[in-house]
Amino acid sequence: MPAAHSRSFRDGKTLAGELRAAMGRVGVLGVTYPDGYCDEFIAKYGKDGVPYPHILSILGEPRIRGHFFYNRMLQRIGPFLDYGCGTGDNIRQLLRDGFSREQITGFDLTWESINLGFDLYRDRDAIRALFVVNDMFPFGEETFDTVYSGSVIHVISDEDELCGYLNNAWRVLRPGGILFGSTLGLEDGDACAPCNQGPPRVMPRADLIRHLYAAGFTGPVLVTRPHEAHHPGDKKCVFEFCAKKVDK
Ligand SMILES: C[S@@+](CC[C@H](N)C(=O)[O-])C[C@H]1O[C@@H](n2cnc3c(N)ncnc32)[C@H](O)[C@@H]1O
Repeated sequence: MPAAHSRSFRDGKTLAGELRAAMGRVGVLGVTYPDGYCDEFIAKYGKDGVPYPHILSILGEPRIRGHFFYNRMLQRIGPFLDYGCGTGDNIRQLLRDGFSREQITGFDLTWESINLGFDLYRDRDAIRALFVVNDMFPFGEETFDTVYSGSVIHVISDEDELCGYLNNAWRVLRPGGILFGSTLGLEDGDACAPCNQGPPRVMPRADLIRHLYAAGFTGPVLVTRPHEAHHPGDKKCVFEFCAKKVDK
């Protein structure tokens, strides 16, 4: 059985190649690596693989930056939650863009991807305190002004888990709070070509809107962005969304 890092992605890329490319992009941001670090990094994460390999291709250039709500988000001053933060790339982007560090929390169910981010950016000591990990969602009602959900909805296959996820997002927002994020989807009418390696949930626009309303959100706005097709017949798109918890 080949080492995970030599296995091909379905579009011909390799894990080692993607890890190396991510180091290159992060290097442009000013991160430096000692001799031998690249080989050690690839050996470490190549051994067992990484939980969400396609996220590697946007490390260093996180999707949050291009989100239609992002510039308005940067003007907000209250507590911010990155719900399902993965490597923490979105959080680093917020810090680079001057968002107040004291207001930032990243939450995930495991340390796996967060640790990958620490090793890639070599910033564990600097930002470890911004992250919370737990298998139960630990935050109380009306804790945050803004919640971000980047590429999380499409990895949640279980319907009850998705409802719980969106209900939590609504519950922790203060009145007037905003949930924004992105997920892979399909324009209504498009069909997803059969593929056993894709994300487990690819919702049509109408379903995503229905889920947001069901969780209590109002005024959902969806913007469609192109998604890099991974195989012929791949008609997925990226939905950027934004929705509000009404003011009291
Ligand atoms: C594809 S990654 C995206 C990571 C990051 N948000 C980004 O934009 O790069 C999906 C992340 O969602 C997390 N996740 C999945 N289900 C979750 C849940 N129910 N609650 C919180 N996080 C969840 C996973 O652990 C993983 O880190």
